[in-house]
Amino acid sequence: MKLITLLILIFLLSLSLIQCGNRIDNLETSSPDGKIKVNFFLSEDGTAGYLINYLDKKVIDTSFIGFDFLDDLPFKENLEIIKSHSSSFDETWETVWGEQRFIRNNYNELKIELKEKGKKERRCFIVFRIFDDGVGFRFEFPHQDNFKDVVILDENTQFKLTGDHTCWWIPGDWDIYEHLFNTTKFSEIDALSKRGHESLAQTYIPENAVGTPVTMKFRQDSVLQGQADDGIYISILEANLLNYSEMTLKVHKEKLLFQSELVGNDAGIKVKTETPFVTPWRLILIGDEASDLVSSRTILNLNEPNIIEDVSWIKPTKYVGIWWEMHIGKSTWDMQSGRHGATTENAKRYIDFAAKNRIGAVLIEGWNTGWENWFGTHDREGIFDFVTPYPDYDLNEVVRYAKEKKVQIIMHHETSAAIMTYEKQLDTAFALCRSLGIHAVKTGYVGQILPDGEYHFGQWMINHFTKVMEKAAEYQIMINIHEGIKQTGLRRTYPNMMSAEGLRGQEFNAWSNDGGNPPEHLTIVPFTRMLAGPIDYTPGIFDIKFDKYKKENQVNTTLAHQLALYVVIYSPLQMAADLPENYSGHPAFQFIRDVGVDWDTSIVLNGEIGDFITIVRKERNTDKWFLGSITDENERVINISLNFLDEGKEYTATFYSDADDSHWDKNPTAYKIESKIVNSSDKLTLKLAQGGGTAISFISNGK
Ligand code: NOJ
Ligand code: CA
Repeated sequence: MKLITLLILIFLLSLSLIQCGNRIDNLETSSPDGKIKVNFFLSEDGTAGYLINYLDKKVIDTSFIGFDFLDDLPFKENLEIIKSHSSSFDETWETVWGEQRFIRNNYNELKIELKEKGKKERRCFIVFRIFDDGVGFRFEFPHQDNFKDVVILDENTQFKLTGDHTCWWIPGDWDIYEHLFNTTKFSEIDALSKRGHESLAQTYIPENAVGTPVTMKFRQDSVLQGQADDGIYISILEANLLNYSEMTLKVHKEKLLFQSELVGNDAGIKVKTETPFVTPWRLILIGDEASDLVSSRTILNLNEPNIIEDVSWIKPTKYVGIWWEMHIGKSTWDMQSGRHGATTENAKRYIDFAAKNRIGAVLIEGWNTGWENWFGTHDREGIFDFVTPYPDYDLNEVVRYAKEKKVQIIMHHETSAAIMTYEKQLDTAFALCRSLGIHAVKTGYVGQILPDGEYHFGQWMINHFTKVMEKAAEYQIMINIHEGIKQTGLRRTYPNMMSAEGLRGQEFNAWSNDGGNPPEHLTIVPFTRMLAGPIDYTPGIFDIKFDKYKKENQVNTTLAHQLALYVVIYSPLQMAADLPENYSGHPAFQFIRDVGVDWDTSIVLNGEIGDFITIVRKERNTDKWFLGSITDENERVINISLNFLDEGKEYTATFYSDADDSHWDKNPTAYKIESKIVNSSDKLTLKLAQGGGTAISFISNGK
C-alpha cells in the first residue's frame, strides 16, 4: 500500500472514530436517590423515544414522541442529537400557603438538543427532570427562522405501560371533569360509554381517552416479564399548562399504550403558537404505596416561583355561603321565583353566623341580575354584567356589615361560559371588588363555551383562565374556579390561584339523577384529581338526607365522614357548605370551627385507592394537628401510631367518630364525640362505619 493511501485510510478511520465518539443515541440519567432511571434514545429511523425504570424494572416501556403540524411535515423521524447536557438542582423553598410550608426541589436534569436531518433542520430540546418520586419532561422549541408560526394538529407523546394495570380514570371530556371515577383494567377503559350524562350541562368525549391525572396500580396477574413488580403505583398528569391545550390520553388497547391527545376546537386545531415555545411538563409520579403519590409536591416544583410580591391579601380561609340552599331548592339564584336566596337580610344572617363561629368569609351567589335566563339557552352573551345587584340585595350595605363583623365577602362571577361578555367586563368587575375591599372571587363556567367551536380545556380557554388569574392578581383577588381547567401547579407562580372544582363536587348529591356521589368517591379523589391541586369540594353537610327539601336526593356518607373531609381534601378556601340552621347548636360543628386551612406539614398515614385514606396535617403557625380518615362503602378498622405528634407534648385529642350503628344510608347522622389526653408514643384504633370516617383535633395542652 502506498504511503499516501495509508494516510488517507488513517484519516478516514480517525474521522469515523470521532463521529462515533460524538454519537450519543442512548442517554441515561437517574433520580438523586438513584431509584428512577430515564433512558432517552433515537431509534434507527431517527425517532426519539424514552423509557423509565424504577429499581431496575421497567415502569414505562419504550415510548416514542412526535408532533403533527398544519402545513408542515411531522416532527418525528430523521432526528439527530446535536448535544446533551446534564445538571443537578437542589433547593428548598417556602410556600405562601399550602399543604406544607417548606418544599424541597431536588432533581437531576437531562437536556437534549434534537435536529432534523434534511432540508428543514427544525430543532427542539427535550428536557427531563428526574425527582425521587417521578419524572417530568417537556419539549422546548427555540426560535427558528424557518419555523415561526406553528399550528399543532397533535402532540403524540406515548406512555407505554408494562402490564394491564388497574386504572382509576374519568373520560377525556373536553368540556367537563364532573364524571365519577371508574376503576377498570387498562384494557377495559371505555370512555365512550360515559357520553351524554344527563346531569352534565356540557360534555364532549370525542375519543376513547382518559383525563389526567390517571392513576394506576400494577397487578400481579398482569405485569409482563422483566417489568416492574406488582404493587407499584404510577400516575400520569401535567404541570404548568400555559398557552397550550390540555392533554387527554388516548387508549390504544392492543399496544398497552396511552398516547397524548390534546383538546382541540371544531377547526381541528390543537395549539396555535410561534417559536420559541415550551409545552407543559408531562409528569409521571411513581410510588411503592398509593400514599406516596399524594405526598408528592413535584407538580409545584415544575412551575416557576411566585411572582406576586405583596402577598399580604392572600389568606386561606374557611367560608360559608348562600349556596347549598339553592342546590337543594330551598331558595333560588333568580329573583323571579319569589324565593330569592341572595337578599340583604339572608346575607346578614350568614355573616352573623360566620362572625360567631370563626369562619372567615361568606360567599353570596345569585346577587347579580340575569339568573332568570342564564342556563339552557344559546343566547347567553350580555346576560350577566357582574356589577348590577338585584333590587333586594344592597351590595354596599352587605359589604359594610361584613366589615363591621370582620368577615370577608367572596364575590361570585358565574360567566355561564359566555366568555367574550366576561372578558369585556373583567376590569370593571374586578375594580368593583377592589373598591369594596373584596379579595376573593368564585368564578363559574356552566354551559357550552361561547364562541361556538371552543371547548373548556382547549388552548383558547386556557388563555382565558390565565388572563383571569393574572388580572385578578393585579386587582389583589384570590380565585376559586368552577367548571374551569384543573390545576397544574400554577398556584406556585400565582398564589392567588387558590382552589378549583375540577371534579364531581358535593353539589351532585343535591340534584344528580344518578344517586349522587357513591361512598367510595372521595376515597379515589385524593389519589387522582387531588394530585393536580386544591379542590373546592364543599364538604360539611350535616343534614345528610335533607328530606325537608328533596326526598329523592341525599349525601352518601356519614356525618363523621363529612368532617374528615376537612383534612383529607385539601383546599385553602374550605367551605362549610350546609345551612347555618343545620350547624347552629350542633356539637359536631366544633370540629369545623377548630380545623385549620393552612398547613405546616401534611402526612398521608395510609390509604388504598377506592378503599380508604388517612391524612394528618399540622396547622401553620400553631402546634395543632388534625386527622381525617375516610372509608368507602365498607366498614374498616384503622390502626395508627401518633408518632407524628411533636415529641414531649401532651394533647387533648377530640374524636368525632361514627357511632356503633352509623351507616351512610341507614343511619348517616349518628356520631359520637370523645376526648382523651394523648402523646406521640400512643397508638389509636379507629372504627369507621360503612361510608364513614373519623375526624380528630389534637390541641396541645402546652405541656
Ligand atoms: C356550578 C358550580 O359548580 C356551583 O358551585 C354554582 O353554585 C353553580 N354553578 C352556579 O354558578
Ligand atoms: Ca360544577
